[in-house]
Amino acid sequence: MEPDFLVVGAGVAGLRAAIELAEAGTVLVVAKDSLHESSSEYAQGGIAVALNDDDGVELHEQDTLAAGDGLCDPAAVRTLVEEGPAAVEQLIEWGAEFDRDEGRLAFGREGAHSRRRVLHAHGDSTGREISRTLYRKASSLPNVEFRTFAAITDLLVSDNGEVAGVVACDASARNWVPLQARAVLMATGGLGQAYRVTTNPEVATGDGVAAAFRAGAGISDLEFVQFHPTALDLQGAPPFLLTEALRGEGGHLRNVEGDRFMPRYHPMAELAPRDVVARAIAMEMKRTGAPHVFLDLRHLGADFLRRRFPRIYETCVRYGVDPGTDMAPVRPAAHYAMGGIRTDLEGRTTLPRLYAAGEVAATGVHGANRLASNSLLEGVVFGARAGRAMREWAGVPPAKGSRPPEPLFPCIDVEELRTLAWEKCGIIRNGPELEEAADRLARVTLSPAASPNRALFELRSLHLVVGLIARMAAARKESRGAHYRTDYPEKRPEFQKHSFVTKDHEVSFL
Ligand code: FUM
Repeated sequence: MEPDFLVVGAGVAGLRAAIELAEAGTVLVVAKDSLHESSSEYAQGGIAVALNDDDGVELHEQDTLAAGDGLCDPAAVRTLVEEGPAAVEQLIEWGAEFDRDEGRLAFGREGAHSRRRVLHAHGDSTGREISRTLYRKASSLPNVEFRTFAAITDLLVSDNGEVAGVVACDASARNWVPLQARAVLMATGGLGQAYRVTTNPEVATGDGVAAAFRAGAGISDLEFVQFHPTALDLQGAPPFLLTEALRGEGGHLRNVEGDRFMPRYHPMAELAPRDVVARAIAMEMKRTGAPHVFLDLRHLGADFLRRRFPRIYETCVRYGVDPGTDMAPVRPAAHYAMGGIRTDLEGRTTLPRLYAAGEVAATGVHGANRLASNSLLEGVVFGARAGRAMREWAGVPPAKGSRPPEPLFPCIDVEELRTLAWEKCGIIRNGPELEEAADRLARVTLSPAASPNRALFELRSLHLVVGLIARMAAARKESRGAHYRTDYPEKRPEFQKHSFVTKDHEVSFL
């Protein structure tokens, strides 16, 4: 039977929304892969929340606004920091086990936070613990069902523009199935796989943004891609994230000459905002001609590192680096999309009956650069808000969606596409190269496929989102937050606005 509500994505935002929706009707949560393959699962450092004795929501608000570099939506930030403490206490009530010191919550420090305010679980497995808690809660509710290995490819839209459901490529049915509902939440996560080097899991191919754009939804701020400064750079190893909390505990960055360079770039040194650290590393790599810099943790001691960061310690050792005695080679990697499907504070998009929450959404909460560990908090706070808002469709008959046009696939090699994104739309950009990337992608031939599979649909999403990133980054003729252009190295007041694009309107600034 058709569910009342569809939630696309089983990360923190999707699960949190499903719990709210279950009060108003039946909910189907659709996951692209297994329930363990979401960016939430991989989130290490933690969840930022103003619960420490010396902290307050105003301080969390100030730090978030400062990191966002003039582009945060103040109302969204206020909502995040004010609703954050209750949202986290609710997680604890549902069984989330955050690390404690002598019974009291243990708060870690990360870049650009003026206080220790980052809760963590099992040292460096915070996302996994929150996902586990929310899954247990959601799956205990009789109204919530799950469908795995179903990758959404398009939205079903009615003649008058209302969203009526999705089309999914279902691995078990080996077929395309329409899934209809009264309202749909996109909680599909990020798009890090658009880049050759990324911390994101393989499922993060921007499908939510791409499907919403094709259906006519407005997309904002996609030029702001956050590059995490420290992904492991070892031959044969994936670019595994070395959490910012390692620098919060005192880790240093050194270039290949052994020089601790961050104090030369920013007064907060290794704890400067993430965009500053990523750019400084890129500049040091260029200056020295080395493929990486080093994260030096040796002075923190093997015992402490093993206890506080067990997953990271074990992973590094598995790849031949013992962080207690060796410096770890690191480089920046695409990590988080600040932009996405434009929403209001209740997750409403520009299309009726379509909502979005979590990384796929652009609420304006992160501005031009997300403050570290604000994303899990965003997922729980804005996921719950979107779930509550969607209840307005309970009892309203579903819209009648038409089948989307036959899909066309780009004739481009996926590695060429990811390399183009990395080289032309990466950490340090310039206008001519952004235009070159946009032109190259616009010229790619599109053709139907006799037997399309998930990989082809993912390529279709990636082609679309890299094209949007290039176009939006080319249109933003300034540098702000994570968007840095050598031809416009300063912030410009006329661009203190959100970019906005739809399939029918070129990029504008609102
Ligand atoms: O460094 C980290 O643990 C990442 C945290 C985040 O992206 O918020």
